[in-house]
Amino acid sequence: KACGRVFSGIQPTGVPHLGNYLGALENWVSLQNQYPSVLYSIVDLHSITQPQDPAQLRTNILDMAASLLACGIDPERAIMFQQSKVSEHAELSWILSCLTSMPRLRHLPQWKMKSKQKHEGSVGLFTYPVLQAADILLYKSTHVPVGEDQVQHLELAHDLARIFNNSYGDLFPEPQALLSSTQKVKSLRDPSAKMSKSDPQTMATITITDSPDAIALKIRRAVTDFTSEVTFDPRTRPGVSNLVTIHAAMAMMSVEEAVSQARGLDTGAYKKLVAEAVIQKLTPIREEIERLRSDRAHLEEVLDRGNRRARELAAPVLRDVRQRVGF
Ligand code: ADP
Ligand code: NA
Repeated sequence: KACGRVFSGIQPTGVPHLGNYLGALENWVSLQNQYPSVLYSIVDLHSITQPQDPAQLRTNILDMAASLLACGIDPERAIMFQQSKVSEHAELSWILSCLTSMPRLRHLPQWKMKSKQKHEGSVGLFTYPVLQAADILLYKSTHVPVGEDQVQHLELAHDLARIFNNSYGDLFPEPQALLSSTQKVKSLRDPSAKMSKSDPQTMATITITDSPDAIALKIRRAVTDFTSEVTFDPRTRPGVSNLVTIHAAMAMMSVEEAVSQARGLDTGAYKKLVAEAVIQKLTPIREEIERLRSDRAHLEEVLDRGNRRARELAAPVLRDVRQRVGF
């Protein structure tokens, strides 16, 4: 077994899509078996940085909890919890924000992009990466699985650990990124973009509760190109290559194996094979999500227990922080 503590968070966006599953959740499941201590947080404080609906948020938190469990997160091995129920996150975030300069945040790419889209963002959106740093440091986490788009935010967490340690004495380990090695899953309608929940085109995204018919239809309509043979070259053939990536990941084989299974098939026939692989992998997950959704009390109980365990770890660390700061 590896040493250290893993922390990761996911926003309660409802049911995850295939990109979330392959880019993050599948890896989360394997990490819970490799590390002695693992925390996975449904980061609801992060999800109110943009306009939101309370009833929807409540549903989304439970849907995400159900999804994590259905994907294989084991609450005996991993502490799965709701961020807002551990008030230490907000308190540590405040303390860390007092050690963070404005220019440091202003230069982070996600702020630049999101604030431009919205014309102006909230203060919470601006300090979002500081809250992420607090999430990680609160548990003295050593390893953080992240996508490439989050690397700069993890660098901030790393810097804030160092700045805190220099100001108040050694407390936090400097957390390391565990970069996911899988290819990004692309939009089925525009393979130059990543598959994303914010894509308004429903045909572009497969969510893990999509019905077999919906999955088959979306893959049948996936944008490819005018070459009928199946090859893997993400640069020149992003659409077909995305299907190969999905096929390989869902059937748990290498890209080379997926391409060799496609030998002799045109892209139309290959799409059927890919759809079958996706349906086969997602069907038990979808059924389990449906089962869990119908037992809200059980979901709440699992979360409550995770929240309690997270608070037990967070409280002594924050007590130490407060004392060092002079409170
Ligand atoms: P979205 O882009 O849909 O808003 P998030 O940014 O909330 O998704 O990402 C949650 C997690 O899923 C992150 O770890 C991110 O790296 C991963 N992820 C999101 N989209 C993809 C994708 N298309 N391919 C692979 N991983 C993805
Ligand atoms: Na995103």
